[in-house]
Amino acid sequence: MIDFTGQVVVVTGAGRGLGRLYAIELARRGASVVVNDLGGTMHGDGADPSVADQVVEEIERAGGVAVASHDSVDSPEGGEAIIRTATDRFRRLDAVVSNAGIFNSVPFDELSHSDWRRMLSVHLDGGFYLSQPAFRVMRSQGYGRFVFIASSAGLFGQPLEAHYATAKAGLLGLANVIAIEGAQHGILANTVLPFGYSRMVTGTVGDPKLLEESGFLRAIQPELVVPIVVFLASRACEFSHHNYSAGAGRFARVFVGLGEGWLADPSSNPTADDIAAHLTDVSATEPFTVPMSIFDEVFGICKRLGITP
Ligand SMILES: NC(=O)c1ccc[n+]([C@@H]2O[C@H](COP(=O)([O-])OP(=O)(O)OC[C@H]3O[C@@H](n4cnc5c(N)ncnc54)[C@H](O)[C@@H]3O)[C@@H](O)[C@H]2O)c1
Repeated sequence: MIDFTGQVVVVTGAGRGLGRLYAIELARRGASVVVNDLGGTMHGDGADPSVADQVVEEIERAGGVAVASHDSVDSPEGGEAIIRTATDRFRRLDAVVSNAGIFNSVPFDELSHSDWRRMLSVHLDGGFYLSQPAFRVMRSQGYGRFVFIASSAGLFGQPLEAHYATAKAGLLGLANVIAIEGAQHGILANTVLPFGYSRMVTGTVGDPKLLEESGFLRAIQPELVVPIVVFLASRACEFSHHNYSAGAGRFARVFVGLGEGWLADPSSNPTADDIAAHLTDVSATEPFTVPMSIFDEVFGICKRLGITP
């Protein structure tokens, strides 16, 4: 059984929705959990310390160990305070589930600069502010696991969500580099793209009839995202740099593939007309590779050209 005895895990946004379920399951499996939550509205207004406190009480009532953190992830001080809560109270840090998030829907041409900034500051800046101090602690221990909660909105696109999708896609860039730089220190980083019935869904869909009648919405019980997040946060996870979509009990790898493409004759000067002429090969999605860093691509090009990297 996957076990967290002796381990310390930070979960941000753990006062409600999916984050609360991750925290409860991690604690049930023996982790000491920092339950971080600012306790604001779905749009990111206000704060309420009781939101995190209630989850801590719930974990303690079940015999688990947890401490509340009410800091916001959206500032360097907030990120550091969250990680310090783990190290002050539990003296180590084994895993971070970067989950805190806000949501709203705005047509692209109406998106204000403040809408944009607020969304990026919670999801993307927040991921950085949290993970940098955590990385330093994990590096000193020679062990760590990051699970960044991204979204299919970011990887595949979602109307009215330019700010949210950008922030979530950015987290993959962050996780990729933490995975590469963390490898030599025993630090792994993966992402999860969840689907889970939470206030983020009810508050966005709005229409009570649709909420009641949609088979998909009924199927995406938030509990069904928990297994993959808990696995990726655990000692049992031994890989890094992966992304998984999870919803309705379907768990699937999401990856960025690189097509074989079309290689212009090295002695030619390809033009836009040559691109048009070879568009089928240029755009082909198969065969493909999944580069694990920019260097994999560089080496691939060099190999085909017969040159040194
Ligand atoms: N529910 C879904 O279907 C879905 C889909 C894709 C991605 N996600 C992502 O999963 C995560 C959890 O979403 P949820 O559906 O459980 O939403 P939720 O609104 O129920 O929970 C999010 C929690 O994050 C907290 N939070 C917000 N801003 C914070 C901040 N600055 N600092 C600390 N805590 C903060 C909120 O108070 C809230 O309790 C989010 O990152 C969301 O973007 C959810």
